[in-house]
Amino acid sequence: MKNPGFSLRPMSDNDVPMALGVECAAYPHPWSEGIFCDCLRVGYCCWIIESGGEIVGHGVMSAAAGECHILNVCVHPDYQQCGLGRRILKRLISLGRTRNADTAFLEVRLSNSAAIGLYESEGFSEVGVRRGYYPGAKGREDAIIMACPL
Ligand SMILES: CC(C)(COP(=O)(O)OP(=O)(O)OC[C@H]1O[C@@H](n2cnc3c(N)ncnc32)[C@H](O)[C@@H]1OP(=O)(O)O)[C@@H](O)C(=O)NCCC(=O)NCCS
Repeated sequence: MKNPGFSLRPMSDNDVPMALGVECAAYPHPWSEGIFCDCLRVGYCCWIIESGGEIVGHGVMSAAAGECHILNVCVHPDYQQCGLGRRILKRLISLGRTRNADTAFLEVRLSNSAAIGLYESEGFSEVGVRRGYYPGAKGREDAIIMACPL
């Protein structure tokens, strides 16, 4: 297994402050603490990847009515490009299958070539665009909608 020192487990309320730290380090427009807490409260699949008690990444997905929606995949910049993002994504896809989803969807910034590369290599392809979906440094930025048959 790549990166055997890192393990995946479900996120708990206690993990939110550390996951928030990863989020703020990785995104210019991070999720708030309230969004993480809401995702946990409504029972979304919220997972973290950690090593020695240090959380270095997380993934969040909703699954219902035969579809799953990957809402967040995030790895701390110090740990990127080591295969951890792929491990998180694979776990979410596997959880989607066990919840009888037949398609996984996600949105990604048009400029996020690292994430798009990851998603394409795991079987996602573009199915649409949401114009001006994300806040950006200079106005709004489009989202690419991607889907993957499970
Ligand atoms: C996108 C992200 C989750 C990828 O995680 P990661 O752990 O760095 O990615 P991995 O090491 O698992 O790499 C998986 C694939 O992603 C792509 N990739 C990752 N980083 C890349 C980079 N800097 N440039 C180009 N492609 C990249 C490659 O296709 C890579 O496959 P390869 O190693 O066979 O070339 C990470 O960059 C991140 O957290 N970014 C900030 C948050 C974010 O944008 N999340 C996505 C929101 S939709």
